[in-house]
Amino acid sequence: ESYDMGGHDTYMHKEIHEQVDAVDRVLRGRIDDRFSTVHLGGLNLDAREARGVRRVKILGCGSAYHTGLIGAQLIEELARIPADAEPASEFRYRNPVVDPDTLYIAVSQSGETYDTLAAVQELKRKGARVLGVVNVVGSAIARETDGGVYVHAGPEVCVVSTKCFTNTAVAFALLALHLGRIRDLSVADGKRIIAGLRKLPEQIAEVLRGEEEIKKLAAEYANAKSMMFVGRVRGYPVAREASLKLKEVSYVHAEAYPASELKHGPLALIEPEVPTVAVLPDDDLLEKNRATLEEIKARSGRILAVAHREQEKADHTILVPRNEVELDPILMGIPLQLLAYHTALALGRDIDKPRNLAKSVTVE
Ligand code: G6P
Repeated sequence: ESYDMGGHDTYMHKEIHEQVDAVDRVLRGRIDDRFSTVHLGGLNLDAREARGVRRVKILGCGSAYHTGLIGAQLIEELARIPADAEPASEFRYRNPVVDPDTLYIAVSQSGETYDTLAAVQELKRKGARVLGVVNVVGSAIARETDGGVYVHAGPEVCVVSTKCFTNTAVAFALLALHLGRIRDLSVADGKRIIAGLRKLPEQIAEVLRGEEEIKKLAAEYANAKSMMFVGRVRGYPVAREASLKLKEVSYVHAEAYPASELKHGPLALIEPEVPTVAVLPDDDLLEKNRATLEEIKARSGRILAVAHREQEKADHTILVPRNEVELDPILMGIPLQLLAYHTALALGRDIDKPRNLAKSVTVE
């Protein structure tokens, strides 16, 4: 991949479409079918050390923080290690207890974000083991961490992260699978996840083939006063990232909430001019999510669902192919990148360089 626009009008559009190849690249050479696991050459964490990990704490900013939320869920689900993500700046300013049995992971596209780098340096000073999940090879965070996983998304130029976001989520799935297989994850589950990972590039291509439909939806929702994004558990980080992306690139105000939190406050905002985007994977929370759609409908809210099957309560459903439930957050974010892109296009925004933002914030 190069900096050439390759016939696209914006880097964002180009990078959204590069995801098919980018995901293929992050997987390439890493899958070990014989043992239903993956090899991560740069991890620098042997099996004994990995078995000694009691907690995982993931740190990053912006979209990188959101991939950390997905990563934490994957690590909990596949490796059964308690894991969470926190914005890097918050972490470093609250004088955190640095625990020797916790594995810290810094996530960054550029590898140069000051807040994330400063968190790494603070952790290192206090003797922690810190890994990096980084895109830019040889960047400051890649150099200062003890090891890690390169994301191999290729150069990302648009300020708004798309292909790097997806590849980072896949990199976390690989890490979670690796940690799981040296702890408690069965061969059968390892195989199942590997098969799911292999399906991703073609499924991403399938989502991208629906672009015209999403463009029409974007035109329909572009004049919203504000947009609400909701999801439960696996759907929640997807909702957060989609909300951030829409804000960044289209300047449409958006909020993201866990679906169950709607009734504790944000439901007051629901009206026809404030549509909701609901992320509804076909997992054991689907019924609960449908109940949320009913609550929204009862307040005359419009609903755009992202789901694996048509949702009758929604005004529109964007269908996403089914994969293993653990991998749902990876695919479900992709149509919402297109939604943000086409909303920004409809509103005439400067897509690759949104006002007030920088690709990489290297100062405090
Ligand atoms: C900036 C960008 C965001 C990005 C964040 C973290 O704020 O505008 O799009 O997610 O930095 O960047 P990083 O390079 O650390 O992933």
